[in-house]
Amino acid sequence: MNEPLWSAVDDYWITKLHTPDHALDAASAASAAGGLPPIAVTAPQGKFLHLMARAVGARRILEIGTLGGYSTIWLARALPSDGELVTCEIDPHHADVAAAAFARAEVDKLVDLRVGPARDTLSTLDGPFDLAFVDADKTSSADYFRECVRLVRPGGMIIVDNVVRAGTILDAGSTDGAVMGTWRLADAIAAEPRVDATVVQTVGGKGYDGFVIAVVR
Ligand code: SAH
Ligand code: DHB
Ligand code: MG
Repeated sequence: MNEPLWSAVDDYWITKLHTPDHALDAASAASAAGGLPPIAVTAPQGKFLHLMARAVGARRILEIGTLGGYSTIWLARALPSDGELVTCEIDPHHADVAAAAFARAEVDKLVDLRVGPARDTLSTLDGPFDLAFVDADKTSSADYFRECVRLVRPGGMIIVDNVVRAGTILDAGSTDGAVMGTWRLADAIAAEPRVDATVVQTVGGKGYDGFVIAVVR
């Protein structure tokens, strides 16, 4: 493990490849000032999500787990002006911080922020979505994944965050809820004939983790 080096390499590539975006920086700062946990995706991960949305030609995006809206803004920046992004957040304070960030980023017209348990919101939604990003309570990732398979169109993409957890998913005796939730997710994907999926392990400013990337058949 060499997190300072991973962060420095993130910084190198951010300097080379990223255009400064004051609204994204403001979203990070407002999340910290509001006491939200520092668990948003990194800038390179956010841009990765953005590029995936562009690559699938996304016009309609679903996000589960808004926090302060950092990943949401990256994804919304990929949408056309008549696009839509539905994002689910259970914590009203997180949702307030996010709503202010969406206004500052001028994506508030594109973003439909639903406050409440994602499970309840998802049951009210109809597809098709072009891309879904699952990043909320890890105990429920398998259930969210199944809902995304219902909601994402053929050829669309489902991305699930935090599926490596510094390798702790290999601790066979783990009783950690997030690890056990990741095992249930893995079994759900393995049993789902309507998707093709793989894992992308990541290191960087947020340590060692990874995404599942699934494409709906
Ligand atoms: N996607 C964000 C980070 C999300 S952190 C980013 O990268 O910027 C996970 C979020 O999921 C937290 O804000 C948490 O409050 C929310 N969450 C937890 N359980 C939830 C649930 N059952 N329904 C909806 N949101 C939930
Ligand atoms: C946690 C949640 C996340 O979505 C993440 O990317 C990192 C950590 C957490 O709940 O600890
Ligand atoms: Mg996450």
